[in-house]
Amino acid sequence: MARLIIDGGKRLQGKVRISGAKNAALAIIAASVMAEGETILENVPCIADVEYQLDIISGMGAEVKWLDPNTVRLVVPDTISSSAPYRLVKKLRASNLLLGALLARKGMAEVPLPGGCDIGARPMDLHFKGLTALGAEIRLKHGFVVARGNCLSGTRIYLDFPSVGATENIMMAACRASGVTVIENAAKEPEVVDLANFLNAMGAKVRGAGTDLIKIEGVSDLRGVRYAVIPDRIEAGTYMIAAAATGGDVWVDNIIATHLQPIIAKLQEVGAVVEEKETAIRVIGREKLFSTDVKTLPYPGFPTDLQSPMMSLLAVAKGTSIIRENIFENRLQVAEELKRMGASVKVEGQVAVIVGVEQLYGARVNAPDLRAGAALVIAGLMAEGTTEVLNASVIHRGYEHLKEKLTALGASIQVHT
Ligand code: EPZ
Repeated sequence: MARLIIDGGKRLQGKVRISGAKNAALAIIAASVMAEGETILENVPCIADVEYQLDIISGMGAEVKWLDPNTVRLVVPDTISSSAPYRLVKKLRASNLLLGALLARKGMAEVPLPGGCDIGARPMDLHFKGLTALGAEIRLKHGFVVARGNCLSGTRIYLDFPSVGATENIMMAACRASGVTVIENAAKEPEVVDLANFLNAMGAKVRGAGTDLIKIEGVSDLRGVRYAVIPDRIEAGTYMIAAAATGGDVWVDNIIATHLQPIIAKLQEVGAVVEEKETAIRVIGREKLFSTDVKTLPYPGFPTDLQSPMMSLLAVAKGTSIIRENIFENRLQVAEELKRMGASVKVEGQVAVIVGVEQLYGARVNAPDLRAGAALVIAGLMAEGTTEVLNASVIHRGYEHLKEKLTALGASIQVHT
């Protein structure tokens, strides 16, 4: 299993170019099966989760070919299977987005029920509520979600929680439902908007994505298109936090500044200097940062995916900080690993209380999940001495060229497989 060896205490300096958004790419690859013909996706990050999603649709009959390191050509035949292979799905929960896409394309879908993961149970009740409201019949059989729905019809669906995945699955299925579907209390994340823009480029009629009320008018056919994925706001935020936490001075390039407002505000609160341009942001850290409080919320609130990286930064901020995780039920685990590096963190339920310490110290730590792994890399960059991050393959699932990008910023980091 891959591990990272980081010699800490170096300020990050220079420029890093942000890759395409993992969570937009995963949804758009799933949506590509809705149209017959050729789709070309640009700015796709070459990361494990994207490879898994491409392997899944390839295993269902789609032709997949990388035209260059970040451009992939997909050709989806009419004979595309309506069933996703278990052996591949178990690696990637985002394959559940094939449910809405296959219902739209084939009127049926068999997708293994993705289990829970380290950060929570990850239920799909809101997905099922919406698809059932559209007229699909949903059954759970031998660990598979079996959906049938040849003639879906538009309706009004209220989401009890603005779930990103449920919004995306319902939006995709509604593209081929007769009439108009309205999703109320929809997720507003930029990745949902990117999916809607991709669907519209294919010929769909999705309006209001990015607001809490999305209207979809069903259409009779969709066609393959060329489309570029948006930059990854979570990758960008991770580098911004790392720059501030190491007292560095970093330009984060190829971003959409409006997507980063919550993280810009937080970094300014802890005393970092942030210089904002439309497609690039400069973050300048300082010798000592100040404590602050963080509450994770659906977009445009502070993103849960940057909660763990922020915990690393706050571990050495002056004063006491409080983090409340409101999205996932088990996403404060990185605290136990940070304590091995000298952090003073107390977790009670969904709340972590962090008392800033003078310094973190290198240690051998284990990455429990993707974003906790990123947080441990940041902690290793900040720490005195050497940190060994085990289970590092989970980090490579979501961060393209992590070692190369950090090395270019002055970090001392080695990958050992
Ligand atoms: C997406 O997951 C992202 N993944 C996650 O990123 C991200 O953390 C999350 O949205 C929140 O922003 C992808 O886009 C592939 P949700 P998703 O449905 O769609 C509850 C990363 O690190 N819920 O918005 O699964 C659920 O339990 C990953 O890149 C229900 O109760 O998130 C959770 O508490 C991690 N019933 C909350 O909603 C449902 O039917 C948010 O889940 C669905 C969700």
